[in-house]
Amino acid sequence: MDYKRYLITAALPYANGPVHIGHLAGCYLPADIYSRYQRARKKDVKFVCGSDEHGVPITIRAMKEGTTPQDVVDKYHAVIKDSFEGMGISFDIYSRTSNQIHHETSQAFFTKLYNDGVFEVRESEQYYDEAKDMFLADRYIVGTCPVCGNENAYGDQCEKCGSSLSPEQLINPRSALSSAVPVKRKTKHWYFPLNKYEPWLHEWIVAGKKDEWKPNVYGQCKSWIDSGLHPRAMTRDSNWGVSVPLPDAKGKVLYVWFDAPIGYISATKELTAQWSDYWCKEDTRLVHFIGKDNIVFHCIIFPAMLKAHGGFVLPDNVPANEFLNIEGEKVSTSRNWAVWVDEYIKDFPDQQDTLRYVLCANAPETKDNDFTWKDFQDRTNNELVSVFGNFVNRTFVLMHKLCGGRVPPVHNGLLTDADKAMADEIVLARQKIENCLDNYKFRDGLYEVIDLARKGNKYLQDNAPWSLSKTPELQVENQKRIDICLHVCLQLTANLAIYVNPFMPFTSAKMIRMMKVVERMLEWENGGRMDLLKVNYPLRAPELLFRKIEDTEVAAQVEKLKNNLKNASQVKMENNTPSPESTTAPAPAEAPAKKAEISIDDFSKMDLRVGTILKAEKVEKADKLLKLELDMGDETRTVVSGIALHFKPEEIIGKQVTVVANLAPRKMKGIESRGMILMAQNPDGRLIFVSPLDMAAPGSEVR
Ligand code: 2FM
Ligand code: ZN
Repeated sequence: MDYKRYLITAALPYANGPVHIGHLAGCYLPADIYSRYQRARKKDVKFVCGSDEHGVPITIRAMKEGTTPQDVVDKYHAVIKDSFEGMGISFDIYSRTSNQIHHETSQAFFTKLYNDGVFEVRESEQYYDEAKDMFLADRYIVGTCPVCGNENAYGDQCEKCGSSLSPEQLINPRSALSSAVPVKRKTKHWYFPLNKYEPWLHEWIVAGKKDEWKPNVYGQCKSWIDSGLHPRAMTRDSNWGVSVPLPDAKGKVLYVWFDAPIGYISATKELTAQWSDYWCKEDTRLVHFIGKDNIVFHCIIFPAMLKAHGGFVLPDNVPANEFLNIEGEKVSTSRNWAVWVDEYIKDFPDQQDTLRYVLCANAPETKDNDFTWKDFQDRTNNELVSVFGNFVNRTFVLMHKLCGGRVPPVHNGLLTDADKAMADEIVLARQKIENCLDNYKFRDGLYEVIDLARKGNKYLQDNAPWSLSKTPELQVENQKRIDICLHVCLQLTANLAIYVNPFMPFTSAKMIRMMKVVERMLEWENGGRMDLLKVNYPLRAPELLFRKIEDTEVAAQVEKLKNNLKNASQVKMENNTPSPESTTAPAPAEAPAKKAEISIDDFSKMDLRVGTILKAEKVEKADKLLKLELDMGDETRTVVSGIALHFKPEEIIGKQVTVVANLAPRKMKGIESRGMILMAQNPDGRLIFVSPLDMAAPGSEVR
C-alpha cells in the first residue's frame, strides 16, 4: 500500500517516576529515529506520546510518597517531558491522560461500545480493604500459597514456586497495604469479550501479520491466541482514573489499559483538527513502538477494541524491543538500579547523541542486552570519536590547510577508480540504511552509517593528500589530486550528515553549521548526491562533534549506581510495600547486586550488637513503621523499623535481633530512631530477622 500518512506512537510512560535509559532504548529512541527518517523522506508524520497518569502504579506511588495521585503525575509528567526534550525525542505532541480531552475521548469510546452492546456485565465478589476503604488489586493481596506454602504469595502469582494464582486461592489473605484481613464485597464490572474476537485476531495476526512483525511480537501474540482468549474487565473500583460514564457506576473508573491506548487518539486530537485523517483513513500507516511487556495490549486488546468500535485503522506494525539490563543486572526502579535520563543529561551536558548512539548501536532489538559504562566509553571513543568524528574533522582541517577553506573543484576527467568507488559506496549506503530502517532494524542501519565513515577514513588514508609533494614541477598535478580527494571527502561528509540525522540529530545540526548549508539539505532524497556542497563555497572551521569519555567519568557513574543501590536498600528496610513496577508484571526474583570489596577497617567501623525486642508498637499514620524498644544490655534503645507490613507487633516480642548500634540517629515520624535492625530478604520479598541461633546476652557484640 502506498501510505499517505504515518501515525507513529510510543508507549505512554507511567507518570510514577522518571524515565531511565532502558525506556529510551526500548521504545522512544527507535520511534524517534523512525519518525525523523520518515520526515526526512517528506512523509506526513504525526509522532504522538504522553504520560499515562492513571492506574494502580500512580496511586501506590502517591501512598508511598504520602501525597496525592495528582501531585505525583504533575511532578513526573514534567520530569519525563523534559527528559524526552533533552534527548531530542521529537514528538509532535507529548500529552497526558489527565487532560480533559482524554477523559472525554475515552468515555466516548466506552459509551459507543456500551451502546453497541459490546460489554458483558458481571457481578463478582472481590477483596476489599476496610482499613484503606478500597478494593484491592490482585497484586496487593498477599497470603499463603496453596501450592508451596510460601506465606507471602501475591494474589496473582507466587514468586517462590511460580504458580499463577487468583486471590481466592490464597490461604489467610491479607492486604499488602494495611495488613488488614480483606473482606469480600460484591462489585460489578463491564467485560470486553475478547473471546468473540479470537477468530478475527487469528485471521489478522496468525494468518496475516506473521511475516511482517518481529518474531518476538508475533510469537507472543500467537501463544496468547492459541491458549484461548477470555472476557476481560474494562472497569475497576477506584477513585483515580477516567470515570465510567454510566449512571450505575459510581466509584468506578476505566481500566488503565482501556484508557491508556486511547490516549494515542486523544493526543492526536489535541494536536490537530485533522486527527481523523490519521486515525480513520486506510492509507495511514499506524506504527506502535513499545517495550516487550506491552505486546499483548497493543497487538490483541487495543486492536480488538478498535475493531469493536469500528472506523479506525489498525496497527500496521508493532515493533517491540526487549529489555536493556544495566551492568549485567535487570533494571529495578525500586532498588534504584537504573540510569535515569534526567541525571544523564545533568552529568553529560551536550552529550545526548553519545547516549543515543550507544543505545541504538546496542539496542535490545532481538534479545535482552546489557548496558555498561565501559561499553559506553568504548563505543564513544572507538567508534564515534575515532571513526565518525575523526573523519569529519580531518576532512575539514585538511580542506582548510590544503584548499584554502573552500570546497575544491572536482576535475572530472581525472577521477580514479578509488574516487568513483567511494562515490558508489555513498549511494549504496543509502540503500542499505533505507532497507534497515524500513524493516525497523535500527542497529544495523546505524552500523551502515559508521561503516561509511570508516570507508571514508580508509579512502583518505589511501590518498594521503597531506603527503603529496608541493615541489614546483608536481604542484599543479598534485593539487588536482588533493582537490579531488577532499572534494569527495566533503561530499561524503554532507551525505553522512543526511544519513546520521535520524539517529543523531544534534550531530547533523553541528555539521550543517560547519558546512553553512540549510537544513533542507538533510532531506533523505539528497542521499547519494555528489554535488551537495558547491565548488568554491567557503566552509567554517570544524567543530568537534564528539568528545572522549574519560576513565574517571566511567568510574564515577559505576560508583553512583552502587551508591544508589545502597541507599535504596537502606530505604527498603523502612519501606516494604511492593514496588510500583511489580503491579504491571510479576517481577521475577532479582538477585541482589554484589557490592564492591571493602577492607576489614571499613567493616570494623560498624558496631553490630544483639538486641532483644522488649516492646513493639505501630507508629501512628505510618503503615510500614514499627517502634521497637530494644534491650541492649547496658541501655534500652528505641529503633523505628519499616517492617510493619511483615510482622504483627505482638508476634515479635522477645525476639533477638542484630542492631547497627552506631548508626547516626534519625527522626522518623517525630520519633528518634537510634540504630537499625538487620533483616535478610528472601527472593520472594519476605523479611527474616538476622538473629543469633542461641540466646545471646543483650548487647553482645557481633563480629
Ligand atoms: O507499561 C507502561 O509503561 C504503560 N504505561 C504503557 C502504556 S502504552 C499505551 F497504551 F498507552
Ligand atoms: Zn508457591
